[in-house]
Amino acid sequence: MLFDTHVHLNADQYENDVEEVIERARKAGVSEMVVVGFDEKTIKKAMELVDSYEFIYAAIGWHPVDAIDLNEEYLQWIRQLSSHEKVVAIGETGLDYHWDKSPKEVQKDAFRKQIQLAKEVKLPIIIHDRDAHQDIVEILKEENAEEVGGIMHCFGGSIEIAKECLKMNFYISFGGPVTFKNAKRPKEVAKEIPLNRLLIETDAPFLAPHPYRGKRNEPEYVKIVAEKLAEIKEISYEELAKSTTENAKKLFGIN
Ligand code: NI
Repeated sequence: MLFDTHVHLNADQYENDVEEVIERARKAGVSEMVVVGFDEKTIKKAMELVDSYEFIYAAIGWHPVDAIDLNEEYLQWIRQLSSHEKVVAIGETGLDYHWDKSPKEVQKDAFRKQIQLAKEVKLPIIIHDRDAHQDIVEILKEENAEEVGGIMHCFGGSIEIAKECLKMNFYISFGGPVTFKNAKRPKEVAKEIPLNRLLIETDAPFLAPHPYRGKRNEPEYVKIVAEKLAEIKEISYEELAKSTTENAKKLFGIN
C-alpha cells in the first residue's frame, strides 16, 4: 500500500478523466492520497474530492508564487475549512524564488501567516521550496514551526538543509526527480534520510518520474518513486511502502 502525500487531482489537467486517474492509482496500490489546494479554485476542488472519496484527504494553503493574492478573507476561509476532519495539513506554502509574480517580502509574509495559522489549528505544514532553502529554514526557526512540523515537499535541497528540517520535526518527501538519470543530489540526500522520516509523493500532474518525464504525471506513478527509493535505501519495496505509509498516517493523524 502506498500513500501519495502530494497530488493535484484538483488541477485542470484532470478535468476530463479524474475518475479514471484515481481508479488507475488504486489499481497500482495507492491506498491514500493528499490532494493539495493552493488557491481559491484548487481549494474548492480539493474539498469536493475529499467528500467524494473516503481515501482522499486535503491540504489547503496558498502557493508562494501567488502570495500577492492572499488577503485576510482568504486566510479566514482557510482557517474555517481547516476544521473539516479530512483537512490534514496547511499548505502548500513556502517560498519560490524562481518566479517573480510575488515579491520576496510578500511571499515571506504569506508564509509566516500560514505557519502561524497551522500552529493555531494544530496541523502540520507542507512546504514548497524553490531556490529558497536558507530563507525557508530561517523562517521555520523564527516562527517555531517545529511545534507542528510538516513536510518538505519534493525536496531538492542539500543534506545540510535536510538535517535542519529533520531537527524541526519535518519529514522529507521525494517525488519524480529522484528517478531522473541526471539527479545525483536527491539520490544522495534520500540515502541519508532516516526511514522513519521519509515520505513519497508524485506532485502530479507535474514532475512525472522517469520514463514519463515531461508527460502528465499521475498518482499511480508514486509506485515508481517508491521502487527507486527502496533501491537507494537498499531495502525491499514492501518495507519502503510500509514505512512511508505509516509515516504519512502518523503525521496526518490518520488511523
Ligand atoms: Ni504541489
